[in-house]
Formats: sequence, structure tokens, C-alpha cells
Amino acid sequence: DTRAISDPAALRETVAAWRAKGERVVLVPTMGALHRGHLALVAHARTLGARVVASIFVNPTQFGPTEDFARYPRDAASDLALLGEAGTDLAWMPEAGTMYPPGFATQITVGSLTEGLCGAFRPGHFSGVATVVTKLLNQVRPDAALFGEKDFQQLQVIRRAVADLDMGVAIHGMPTVREADGLALSSRNRYLAPAERAAAPTLHAVLSRIAAEARDDAETPPAIAKGIAALEAAGFSVQYLAVCDAQTLAPLARVDGPARVLAAAYLGKTRLIDNVPV
Ligand code: PAJ
Repeated sequence: DTRAISDPAALRETVAAWRAKGERVVLVPTMGALHRGHLALVAHARTLGARVVASIFVNPTQFGPTEDFARYPRDAASDLALLGEAGTDLAWMPEAGTMYPPGFATQITVGSLTEGLCGAFRPGHFSGVATVVTKLLNQVRPDAALFGEKDFQQLQVIRRAVADLDMGVAIHGMPTVREADGLALSSRNRYLAPAERAAAPTLHAVLSRIAAEARDDAETPPAIAKGIAALEAAGFSVQYLAVCDAQTLAPLARVDGPARVLAAAYLGKTRLIDNVPV
């Protein structure tokens, strides 16, 4: 198993010892309940020839009051075994009281990028993410940090905050790891009942179809309307389905540069998100 540390002084000491030997450090932030998507990030981190730190912290401030914080899956023993197999050097597992001591009062809020898509449905979510990621980066002080394109808006928000605040860490985005039927791996997939799991791949299928149509220089609104109908027919309740500029995430009526098709939809009580490049 990977060695786990929850004491900030022990973290600083360990990282300082690596630094003293001239070693580079890469951080993979997670909320645990690890799957092959997370492990692909660790595997890529290993190829960078650096020490690999994975953080595990289920961050309360990025969950809304009616969201799944309390029941979010937590399995430290399995996570540490998986991190060990993947060759992770250290697991940083801070306590909630370490991250948010009494009197904690600072928020990182990224404008514009967070107004649409998930930001419109999860008020405060991206401030919670940007704040905790900033803290993790300041605690570990890695040369690089890795994030998945699975959470594409999150990735862009983090890139923006890191650039805007001169955080001096390289941010790498990694492609989404999927099941054979197209469903993006997610810690939340375990909430799906069998019938929901069977319907879930429709999300990726619909996004892929819209991406193909947008590539053929079509107007996006009709493709989106058809996509929403297909998702609803499969039992999804759609929050948003949009074709957006890949950098600014502004909605596009026609694609003429790098773009992304993104969606969030419920299957029963489980909220799924996914996105694909155009
Ligand atoms: P979590 O959902 O645990 O995801 C941790 C990292 O794994 C994120 O960068 C996410 O995009 C990536 N990831 C998740 N599923 C993936 C998949 N199927 N393929 C590739 N990468 C995948 O995202 C968070 O945690 C939190 O918001 C965090 C950044 C840790 C801040 O609390």
C-alpha cells in the first residue's frame, strides 16, 4: 500500500526530502473511491519521472446542501491498495479540521467560466473546488498537477485560477477513461441501479452523435434538441446539453474552432456528467 500522511508537517518534511535530492513532484488530487480513471492519472504522472503524490479528500465545500456529501463513497483501505499497485509515492489525506480550521474565511472564485453549465446548477461548487485545489497545491507545491477531462469545466476553472493567481504549476488535462460501452468512469456510477446502469451509456452516445454533426458544419441547436429528446426517451432528466467553445465554454450556434459537447443529466437520483471534443 501507499504510505498515507494526514499531518501537514510530515507532508512538508517528505516533500522537502525529495526536493533536496533534486526530484520533481506531481500531484493527482482526488476525492477517493478510486477507479481506473484516477489510476490513469497516476500512471501518467509516473511517466513524468517525478515523485507522485495523490491526495484524497472529500471536500465538503464543493457539495451543495442537498447533494451527496454524506453518502459519497469512502474506502481508504481499497484506495491505498490501488495507489500502491499504481506506484504512487505518497497519499496525502488531510483531516477536514486541517483543511478548514475554525475561522477559515477565504474563497477563490473564478468568474465567467463558472456561470454556465454545472456552475448554473451547483452554486458555489466551483468556488469550493478552486479553493480546495489551491490549498492542495500550496500544501504539496508540486511542479505539475493532473486533472481529468471528465470534469471539463473543472479543468478549465483550475487552469484559469492557476494562471490568474500566478501559481506556477503546470496543469495537465488527461482524456476520459470509459467503460467498454462508453460510460465515463465515475465514483458515482456505483449509485446506479441495474436498469439505470443499462441506460447510462446513452449519454456518451448522444454526445458523440452531436459532436459528429457539429463537425459536419451543422447548426448546433437542432442537434441539441434531438439529443435532449433521445436522453429523455432513455430515462434521463437533462440539466444541460450544450456545444461550447473549448476554452471559454461559451455556447456556440455553429462550430468554427476547438469545441466541446457537454452534458449533465440525472438517471433517477444519480447525476451524471460527460463531454466529448468536437
Ligand atoms: P474526483 O471526482 O475524485 O476526481 C479526481 C480526478 O480524477 C479529477 O481530475 C477528475 O477529472 C479525474 N477523473 C474522474 N473520473 C475520470 C475518468 N473517467 N477519466 C479520467 N479522469 C477522471 O474531481 C475531483 O475529485 C475533485 O473536484 C477535486 C479536483 C479532487 C477537488 O476536490
